Parts: sequence; structure tokens; C-alpha cells
Amino acid sequence: MGDRLEGKTAIVTGAAGGVGKAIATKFVNEGATVHVADITQERCEDACHEIGEGAVPAQVDLADVSSIKAMVEKAANASPRLDILVQCAAVVSMQPITEITEEEFDRVNNINYRGVAFTLSEVAKRMIPDGKGGAIVNFTTLNRGYPWIGAYVSSKHGVSGITRCSALELIKYGIRVNSICPGPIKTPLMDDLIKRFADNPPPGSEYLQEQGFVVPAGYESTPEDYVEPTMLLVTPAGAYIIGQVMQVDGGISA
Ligand SMILES: NC(=O)c1ccc[n+]([C@@H]2O[C@H](COP(=O)([O-])OP(=O)(O)OC[C@H]3O[C@@H](n4cnc5c(N)ncnc54)[C@H](O)[C@@H]3O)[C@@H](O)[C@H]2O)c1
Repeated sequence: MGDRLEGKTAIVTGAAGGVGKAIATKFVNEGATVHVADITQERCEDACHEIGEGAVPAQVDLADVSSIKAMVEKAANASPRLDILVQCAAVVSMQPITEITEEEFDRVNNINYRGVAFTLSEVAKRMIPDGKGGAIVNFTTLNRGYPWIGAYVSSKHGVSGITRCSALELIKYGIRVNSICPGPIKTPLMDDLIKRFADNPPPGSEYLQEQGFVVPAGYESTPEDYVEPTMLLVTPAGAYIIGQVMQVDGGISA
């Protein structure tokens, strides 16, 4: 428990699962009201129940811009102001580039990339008018390639681009935008990816075993490993960190 976010309001997307839930829990424990944004009302309510007082369900489908607008409007109307946005929601996809379908490419990009851009836009519009600034953190992925997950990785690299550009536009309003690039995390997203690889190993998949996820830190991370790095980016301690795509990856990118 602490008071580093006392009186602040945050939206955390993907907050019913993995990293998003760990961050939403920390924010509430530090005094914030958190709009727990996720795909179904039931998932949002279950997460809020677990997180406790201060967590508010905020159902949204990030593939749908009208749903994003409605969620942000509702959160803004229910709060004195919006101070923080953390974007964790994402889906993963596995298709070789020669087999990739338009439908799957669009599904992944609409949620992971377009959804992030429009959520950022809608929240920034509400942060700007009163001049009190804000902090936005977008989760991306490792700053490198992996075979068979091109739609996912490219959607995330798009997020890095949006982060840098919007940071330069928004800092004049006191809004800091940054990204975190995680390494492999024990969450449903990673479990899903591993299961798909195991069920249907693509040709040459020993590549991943040999050099894919060798983590210099010596262990696979958990959602908690991303909580304090996010706190740094949303509190005054990180005031001079602007437009960064920060590697929090156990040394993979070193
Ligand atoms: N898990 C990893 O190993 C790993 C590695 C690198 C980067 N990342 C990134 O870190 C972030 C957090 O990952 P995680 O492992 O906690 O993910 P997760 O799968 O545990 O949680 C993602 C959440 O997003 C929600 N979501 C999915 N589609 C949605 C939609 N259309 N609208 C609203 N919500 C939707 C899901 O319901 C889920 O609660 C993601 O952005 C992910 O890409 C994860």
C-alpha cells in the first residue's frame, strides 16, 4: 500500500489479465481509481472484484473505434479527470508470412495497433484541455523479429512508432508518452503462443528453442516485473523520460 497515485484516475486496458491486472492492482493500492478495460463485462467485473475498491469495470472492444470512444467517454465522465493510460491489451497470432490471411492480419492489427492509436488519441483529447498533463504507457514487444508471428510483431512495432510520434506532439501539454518492451512473461498470452507452437510446430521451429527466448536474467518474467517500471513512467520520478521505447526484457536486447 502507498499513496504515489492518490487522487489519480487511470485507464488500464487488458486489465482483466496478465500484466494489465498486476498494474491495475498496484495503481489501486497506490490510491488511484482504475478503469479496468477489457473485452467482456464479465472479465472486467471479475477482475474488479479481485482488485477491490477503486477498480471500475470498463468493457471495451479495442477492435472497434466506436467502442473505444464510448469507453473513454464513460470513464472521463465518471472522473474528475483522466491522468494515466496504460495499454496492455493485445492478441497474438501465429502464421508464416506465406500463409498469412487478410482476416487474421486485420484482426491482430485492429486490436494491437489501431486500437492503441485510437485509445491514445481519445484519452489525450481529454487530458489536454485543463493543462494538467498526464502519462501514457503502451506495451509493445521485443525490438526484434521472430518467425511466424509477423502480424503480431509488426503491430507492436507500429505501437513503438505511435509512441515516439505522439510523445513529441503531446509533451507541450505535459503529457508523457512512453512504451515498455517486455521479454517473455508467464501469462495467458504466452501460454497460448507456446501451445500453438507445440500443437503445430512450424518448419525450422528449433530456431526458437535454440536462440529465441534465451533470457540473460536466467528466468522468465512474471507480470510483477513490469509494475515498478510502469510506476516510474507514470509518476514524477520519470518526469524526464519522454518518447522512449524502454526495454524491460531481462537483458535479451543487451
Ligand atoms: N506475455 C508475453 O510473453 C509478452 C511478451 C512481450 C510483450 N507482451 C505484451 O505485453 C502486454 C501484456 O501481455 P499479457 O501477456 O499480460 O497479455 P494477456 O493475454 O495476459 O492479457 C491481454 C488482455 O487483453 C485483453 N484483450 C484481448 N483482446 C481485446 C480486445 N479486443 N479489447 C479489449 N481487450 C482485449 C484480453 O482479454 C486479456 O485480458 C501485451 O501488450 C503483450 O503484447 C507480452
